[in-house]
Amino acid sequence: MNALQRDLKRLVPLAEKLGADTVAADCHRQHYHIQPPVGWLNDPNGLCCYDGAYHVFYQYSPFDASGGVKHWGHVRSTDLIHWEPLPVMLYPDQPFDCHGAYSGSALVENGALYLYYTGNVKHPGPYDYITAGRGHNLCLAVSRDGVTLDSKQCLMYNRDYPSGLSCHVRDPKVFTWQGQYYMVLGARTLTDRGEVLVLQSADKLHWNHINTLTTPEPFGYMWECPDLFCLNGRWYLLVSPQGIPCQNVYGCGYFALEGDWRTKDCTLGQFYPLDSGFDFYAPQTFADEPHSRRILLGWMGMPDAPYGNQATVDCGWQHCMTLPRVLTRRADGRLLQQPAPELLALRQKNTVLSPGQAHLLPSARFALQAPVSGSFVLHIAQGAELHYTQPDRRCVLRFTDPVLSGGRTQREVLLDDACRSLDVWGDASSLEVFLNQGEAVFSTRYYPGAGPLAIRLDGAAASVYELE
Ligand code: FRU
Repeated sequence: MNALQRDLKRLVPLAEKLGADTVAADCHRQHYHIQPPVGWLNDPNGLCCYDGAYHVFYQYSPFDASGGVKHWGHVRSTDLIHWEPLPVMLYPDQPFDCHGAYSGSALVENGALYLYYTGNVKHPGPYDYITAGRGHNLCLAVSRDGVTLDSKQCLMYNRDYPSGLSCHVRDPKVFTWQGQYYMVLGARTLTDRGEVLVLQSADKLHWNHINTLTTPEPFGYMWECPDLFCLNGRWYLLVSPQGIPCQNVYGCGYFALEGDWRTKDCTLGQFYPLDSGFDFYAPQTFADEPHSRRILLGWMGMPDAPYGNQATVDCGWQHCMTLPRVLTRRADGRLLQQPAPELLALRQKNTVLSPGQAHLLPSARFALQAPVSGSFVLHIAQGAELHYTQPDRRCVLRFTDPVLSGGRTQREVLLDDACRSLDVWGDASSLEVFLNQGEAVFSTRYYPGAGPLAIRLDGAAASVYELE
């Protein structure tokens, strides 16, 4: 253990202890979403099932709620509802990751956890940090008990990547397929095009670039946080592209793939956004093999967004994850996202509301389910509104109270089919709206504060549940 690691190992728990009371007193603290004990959280990392539990790592800056040098925070759960905080797994404590242990993934093999991540290094000097001055190193950390770290090493430096790339090559997602190891890596070319590198390895340590996936026409300047997986026989590439036209600062969605992704014959289908809310970025998936399903988690945040909520920063923390969502495939190949069924165990007192009936919930923790068959408007706490208009199949999430919304206005989506179902999950400071069994989703933070929450659905009857 080097001196920096030794000190960080003491300082992080100290920062968590010092901040605990102020954080706990914040009425915006979430009840069933993953959030940092103190400080800042962004991307989900290293999602996996290990030793009978779900493990989620996350980009974590324990010393600065507005962002700072990234560690890998760590939580574990057996029910996808209650998340046990564990010690930080990765510290930025080596020459190859000293400016941040950036995003990556986990591979579970023979009882060990192999964590692939990007070591971020910024060299001092007059650099643009895009074409020069930055190291994005491919790193591997190994844990043999899923909680403590055994080793860390750098496997590849920027000079080992294919030519024509900027310094931005990051966020390895590793998986096995037909007896080989594969990795996808997000990249920005020197001509500012986003793409994904596909690498192959026979031993988990030595990696060869075998293919590059991108669109025929430029689509954004950088593709972050790629994920490549097969769902019911069809391959999908998930990416968070920067620089595409979209409602938020950055986009995030998926392509269905045609052809073998290991070869030049592979082509990318249409790009579909995964979420239409204000706060959703850098999602990752993992195979929940015991339950034969694929689960997705995203960061319920947006990098470089002009809005935010100073109140949580003043209380010493910022951001959280989305709910775990089960991914399924519609007959036409589109992906559907639905809250993991485990979450239904949170439901307590149920009230059936007739159309237009106002209801006062004891807190912002609620779930609402409604079959719908025409236009509707959901009003929440007099400041958040969800409008669906049947003729144009348009659904708009609108905030009328800037205090409640942290300065946001509205986001919208057009449904493929008429809306048949509405499923809303509220926590102390978030809303997640699922339409048509997850054909469209809005994820957003909002800040209704402590105390009762008024709710009303015009145009349909609904079941409303208070949550544990
Ligand atoms: C996405 C991202 C990743 C990077 C990480 C750093 O939000 O920019 O590309 O690895 O965050 O925290």
